[in-house]
Amino acid sequence: MLKNKQIILGVTAGIASYKAVELLRLLTKAGADVHVIMTRSAQEFIAPLTFQTLSANPVHTELFNLIAEREIGHITLADRADLFIIAPATANVIGKIAAGIADDMLTTTVMATKAPVLIAPAMNVNMYTNPIYRDNEERLRGYGYLFVPPEKGALACGWEGEGKLASPESIFEAAVAAISPRDLRGQTILITAGPTREEIDPVRFISNHSSGKMGYALAKAAQRRGAQVILVSGPVNLPAPYGVELVRAESAREMQAAVMERSGHCTIIIKAAAVADYCPAVRSGLKIKKQSAELSLQLVKTPDILAGLGALEKRPFLVGFAAETGNLDEFATRKLKEKNADLIVANDVSQPDAGFNVDNNRARLFFRDGRILEYPLMSKDALAGLLLDVIGSEVTARLSS
Ligand code: PMT
Repeated sequence: MLKNKQIILGVTAGIASYKAVELLRLLTKAGADVHVIMTRSAQEFIAPLTFQTLSANPVHTELFNLIAEREIGHITLADRADLFIIAPATANVIGKIAAGIADDMLTTTVMATKAPVLIAPAMNVNMYTNPIYRDNEERLRGYGYLFVPPEKGALACGWEGEGKLASPESIFEAAVAAISPRDLRGQTILITAGPTREEIDPVRFISNHSSGKMGYALAKAAQRRGAQVILVSGPVNLPAPYGVELVRAESAREMQAAVMERSGHCTIIIKAAAVADYCPAVRSGLKIKKQSAELSLQLVKTPDILAGLGALEKRPFLVGFAAETGNLDEFATRKLKEKNADLIVANDVSQPDAGFNVDNNRARLFFRDGRILEYPLMSKDALAGLLLDVIGSEVTARLSS
C-alpha cells in the first residue's frame, strides 16, 4: 500500500516526539520514502540526526536554508508528497494552520501541498478540550484535513485524560487508509471473526482453532477502503483494528444477538467466524468432578446465525465462509442454498498451510448464478483485498440492476 509513496512527516514539539521515530520506522518498513520536517522546538526533544538516519533523507528544519531553497525546497517537497502526516501535532501548529499562518518550514509546506494531510494531535487535556482548539480542529476537518484522535491516559504534564498521542500503529493505519481507494465508502459492513466458546462448566468449554486472522484482515481492509466496519469477534488474541467498532461475543448465542441487533444497519455481512455447531444442552454451574471412567455430554444445536440472516425479508448482501475437509464444492453449494447466502467463500482446511490459525489461505468462491472463482494460496491480507473487490462489484451490480 505504501510502497514507493512519498510521505512528509512533520514533527512538532512534545514529549511524544519519540513516538514519531517508531512511526517513521513503520512507514519505511512498508516501503514509503519519508521526508521529515521538524519545527525548531521539536529539536529540543529529539535530534534531527535520528530521523535522518532512519529515513535515509535529509531532515528539513529551516525555511531559509540556502542549499534546499535553491530549488524552492518547501514547494518541491509539498508537490511530490502523496501524504502529509503531522505527528505529534501541538495545539500551536494546528492553530497556525487553521489560521492560515505559514511562518516556518512545516506550516509553509502544509499550506502548499495538495496531498491529504493527516494530523495526530498531542497536548494537555485542557488544551484539547479548549473551545479555541476545538474550533480550529473543526475548521480543518471542514477543509478535508484528517485527524487521528489522541488517546485517553496519564499525560506527561501530570493530568489524566484525552491528549496522549495515538499509537504509532494507529497513525500508520490511518495513513494507509488516507491514501487507499475509498471505494467502499457508504457501505456498513459487519464482519464476524474467530471461534465461539460453548461453556461446559465454569472452567471448560467447546471451541475450535480459529484465530480470527481471516475476519480481522477483512475488517482492516474494509476500514481502509472507507467502509464503516462493525467487527463481531469471538475470543482471540489479536489487537483491535484501528477505526473499527469492535463487539465481543463469547458463545454462538451471544454472537447471534450481537449480529442480529446490528444487521438492520448493514449493507454487507461477512461471516468469517467459526461458530460452534453444537453446545452443551446444560451448562453445569459447578466444575464437573472426575468420577466415573466415562462421561457423556449431551449437545444441542446452536442457532445458525447465517441461516437466520438469510431468512430475513430485507437482508444485506450476505457472504458466508465454509471450512471443509472434503467435498468442498458439494458442501459449499449446499450451504449457499440452505443458508440463502449471496456468496460462499470455501476453504479447504485439511491442508496445514491454509485455513485455521495460519497467516495464509486459499479460497474458492461460489456465487448464486453458478459462477466459481478460485484463488491460490496467499496471505489472508491479500485474500481480504480480493474478496472485498468481488463483494464491492457484486453489490454495485445489484444496485444498478
Ligand atoms: O480465524 P482463522 O484462524 O483466520 O481461520 C479462518 C477460518 C478457517 C475460520 C475461516 O476462513 C472460515 O472458514 N470460517 C468459517 C468456518 C465455519 O464455521 O464454517 P462452517 O462451514 O461451519 O459454517 C458455514 C458458515 O455458517 C460460516 O460463515 C459460519 O460463520 C456460519 N455459521 C455456522 C454455524 C452457526 N451456528 N452459525 C453460523 O452463522
